[in-house]
Amino acid sequence: MRWWASLRQAYPNRSGLTIAIAALVVMVVVGGGITVAAAVTVHMTSTEEFCSSCHTNDAAAEFKDTIHDKNRTGVRATCADCHLPKELVPMMIRKVKAAKEVWGHFTGVIDTKEKFDKHRYEMAVSEWKRMKGNNSQECRNCHDLAKALEKQSETARARHTKVLAERTDCIDCHFGIAHTEPDGPGPKEIKVSR
Ligand code: HEC
Ligand code: HEC
Ligand code: HEC
Ligand code: HEC
Repeated sequence: MRWWASLRQAYPNRSGLTIAIAALVVMVVVGGGITVAAAVTVHMTSTEEFCSSCHTNDAAAEFKDTIHDKNRTGVRATCADCHLPKELVPMMIRKVKAAKEVWGHFTGVIDTKEKFDKHRYEMAVSEWKRMKGNNSQECRNCHDLAKALEKQSETARARHTKVLAERTDCIDCHFGIAHTEPDGPGPKEIKVSR
């Protein structure tokens, strides 16, 4: 109990000690509270409802009935499964970058279908770059190509054998799978350093 002895030494009278301990308890409780609040915020801002609150007429509407919304397996991919990294640091970086979205919301950058369509290519390129930057990690979280290979069609197997050997990005070939495909050069033409 050496820490106790040094605490007594630092606070020779009783009331001083009580205040010190009370302050410590408050710090722990408040710190815990902040951690919980942060965790709840992160969780709340990752739900489909949250994303759809702004993207209901554009990205969310297009996503409806695509293979990742409805399929025979019953497993659904939601917005965050593809757009939000699961790893803590990349997730936080993406959350901070989303400040641009909040700003964009209030300045109305995509508040009509026309504006959204005009801005779509730029947003798609930005997302493709992010995905290429992490070797389409979000896709790989669900799709284990090495495991799936033998059950796949011959075309898929032939391509994917090469993909596994060369670590090509899923997004290079499979883009426009959840939303309307944008006009303009696709992800294969976009170079990123990683
Ligand atoms: C407060 C409204 C709002 C919410 C909530 C919101 N977005 Fe957005 N989002 C926007 C706006 C506005 C833009 C365009 C920002 C710009 O380019 O200036 C945008 C852009 C995007 C882009 C393109 C990003 C890029 O790099 O250009 C993606 C992807 C996206 N949102 C996905 C999501 C997902 C996933 C969620 C839920 C986790 C979400 N959004 C929640 C308003 C919102
Ligand atoms: C939350 C898990 C999840 C994530 C994340 C996910 N997928 Fe899927 N994906 C699925 C499921 C489930 C199916 C349907 C499988 C089936 O019907 O056999 C599917 C189907 C597919 C198909 C087959 C489409 C078809 O028409 O048969 C492709 C291609 C695909 N995903 C690519 C991707 C790419 C690229 C990404 C990343 C941008 C991605 N997936 C992210 C779960 C996911
Ligand atoms: C070089 C191009 C290419 C890349 C890169 C690629 N794929 Fe594919 N993928 C294909 C082709 C071609 C098919 C067959 C499409 C078809 O039959 O319509 C396919 C089919 C699929 C299917 C459906 C399986 C089936 O049996 O038809 C899934 C799921 C899929 N790919 C996931 C992925 C994932 C995840 C990645 C990244 C790890 C990836 N692909 C990377 C070309 C590619
Ligand atoms: C299966 C993975 C996947 C899911 C699920 C998904 N997206 Fe996307 N999203 C993409 C990809 C990939 C792009 C890049 C453009 C493209 O290839 O279509 C994209 C692009 C976007 C963009 C930029 C505009 C555009 O159309 O390119 C927005 C905004 C967006 N997604 C929002 C959402 C929202 C909101 C949801 C949930 C309702 C969602 N996404 C679900 C994969 C996904």
